[in-house]
Amino acid sequence: MARVFSGIQPSGELHIGNYLGAIRNWVQLQDKYESFFSVVDYHAITGSYEPADLRRRTRDMAVSLLASGIDPEKCTLFVQSTVSEHTELAWIFNTVAPLGELERQTQFKDKASRQESILAGLLNYPVLQAADIALYLSDLIPVGEDQIQHLELAREIVRRWNAKFNVDYFIEPKPFLTPTRRIMGLDGQAKMSKSLGNTIGLLDEPSVVWDKLRPAVTDPARVKKSDPGTPEVCNIFQIHKAFSSPETVEHVANQCRTAGWGCIDCKRVLQSSMEAELGPIRARAKELRAAPEVVDDTLATGTIQAKKVASATLNEAKQIMGLR
Ligand code: TRP
Repeated sequence: MARVFSGIQPSGELHIGNYLGAIRNWVQLQDKYESFFSVVDYHAITGSYEPADLRRRTRDMAVSLLASGIDPEKCTLFVQSTVSEHTELAWIFNTVAPLGELERQTQFKDKASRQESILAGLLNYPVLQAADIALYLSDLIPVGEDQIQHLELAREIVRRWNAKFNVDYFIEPKPFLTPTRRIMGLDGQAKMSKSLGNTIGLLDEPSVVWDKLRPAVTDPARVKKSDPGTPEVCNIFQIHKAFSSPETVEHVANQCRTAGWGCIDCKRVLQSSMEAELGPIRARAKELRAAPEVVDDTLATGTIQAKKVASATLNEAKQIMGLR
């Protein structure tokens, strides 16, 4: 059976961009494949941060994932730094990772250009990511388009390691693109992202969702209610496609094209579609917050399960390398 691995940074609570772009897909995959999902806290320390804040964000992310339907009965959910094999294999992979390729990574170049002193951890970030994947001998990696370059590099690292020791041990991972492509923020300008403040939180109360939806950017051609619009260019329509039934999507598209409705009517329908899916998630998150020991136990079990696979893989790799 194919193995799935994916990681998400502990950015705190999920927003609907993360949810639609990644997590909803993970929830489906756990039924079909042996899946490992990790909150990648070691990846989150390559810049400056507050320790207490990291601790809280890691936990909030775990709560969001569990509330969204990541089911510890079906998959392994764990926090990366609790499985020390990740950093061990990352060191090993550093010995075969080509510096030129690391320097060419778009994400590294973007982030490095915003830092005064460039840290080695930022450069080596994709090496740790390659180790995450390889430890579980995973072949299917559900990610967004922005991670394709990192996965290409992971394939290169694995190929070089295999070639160096003349084995066919580690598997070259393949990206498994999420069906919902990137969701734009409510400003309609850039990808939905917490740092841009253009998000709807997965756990936002309905009144908060409405306060954010109401002023959100729509088709600029619709100045007056009687101006017909083009649903395809409207960001609100894209979010409808993710949350509403096909019949509703068709209906709102017609109302937009014929100026039957104003944008506000369309947004009201979107709010109720969102609430139908997100209401139960919010309720589960509340339960989990009220029972922190359940979350602790779940993550502790995940660590044990992950470690079992990861340590077996690492031992085998060490044997092959003459480290045993
Ligand atoms: N770099 C990924 C991101 O920012 C997170 C990540 C870390 C990851 N390790 C991974 C994704 C392994 C897939 C597989 O989204």
